[in-house]
Amino acid sequence: MRNKIVAGNWKMNKNLPEAEALLTDIRHYLHDKKPGCQVWIAPPAPYLFPAKSVFADGEVGILAQDISIHTSGAYTGEISAAMVSSLGATGTLVGHSERRQYFGETDEACEKKIRQALDQGLTPVYCIGETLEERKANRHFEVVKTQTETALKGLTAEEAQRLVLAYEPVWAIGTGETASPEQAQEIHAHIRKTLATMFDRETASSISILYGGSVKPENAKEIFSQPDIDGGLIGGAALKIEDFSKIIEAYN
Ligand code: PGA
Repeated sequence: MRNKIVAGNWKMNKNLPEAEALLTDIRHYLHDKKPGCQVWIAPPAPYLFPAKSVFADGEVGILAQDISIHTSGAYTGEISAAMVSSLGATGTLVGHSERRQYFGETDEACEKKIRQALDQGLTPVYCIGETLEERKANRHFEVVKTQTETALKGLTAEEAQRLVLAYEPVWAIGTGETASPEQAQEIHAHIRKTLATMFDRETASSISILYGGSVKPENAKEIFSQPDIDGGLIGGAALKIEDFSKIIEAYN
C-alpha cells in the first residue's frame, strides 16, 4: 500500500506570528483526530524550525520548499539540504513549477537537488507538470515523461522508492481550474508507467504520486479517489485550517 499524503505548500506567505498561529491550528486540529493520510507541510524556510518545535513528535512531515544544488560554501543566499535537515525538515519540494517558471530551474538542476536531498536523508517531493501551451499542443505526456526521466535517471530503484512525485499541471496552479479526475488519473498512470520502465513495476507501484493544482475541499475527495492518485499538494487552500482540514478529511 502506498502512503496517502496531503501536503500544504505555503509558498511565500505569512509572517512569523501568522505562521505560528497556523501551526498551532494544525496541531489542535490533529489533537484528537486520526487522519486517514499523512499530513505534511512546506512552510517558508524561516519557519522550518518553529514547525519542528510544534511537531516535535513527528506527526506532521515538514518539507523545505527548495534546497540548493550545492552542498556548502560560497553561495550567498542559498540554503543546503543539510541545513534544512538540521532545522527539522524531513523532506523538500524539488522543481515546483514556480521555481521552474520564475527562477529558471531545469530538470538537470532538479536531478542535483534530488541527489542532495537523498544524501541528507530527506524525502524529495519532485514536482512535474505541463504548461497550458504544452497541453494544448497535446504534448503533456511527453513533457512529464522527459521531466521524470531527466531528473531521476541517476537513481537506483532503492533510491527511487524514497521519492514522492507531485503532478501539477501549471495551468491549474492558483487559477481555480483543476484537471478533471479523469485527466489527472490518465497522466498519473502514465507517470507510473514511466517509473516502471525506468526502474521496475514494484518500485513504480510503491511511489506516491500527489496531484496539485487548485485542490479544494469541494474537489479533493473525487480527485483522491482515483487509483493512481495518492494525495495532494495543496497551495492556496493550505493557508487556512478550515480548508486544509477538510481536504485532509477527504481521506476519512
Ligand atoms: P494551488 O497551488 O493549490 O494554490 O493551486 C498548488 C501548488 O502550487 O502546489
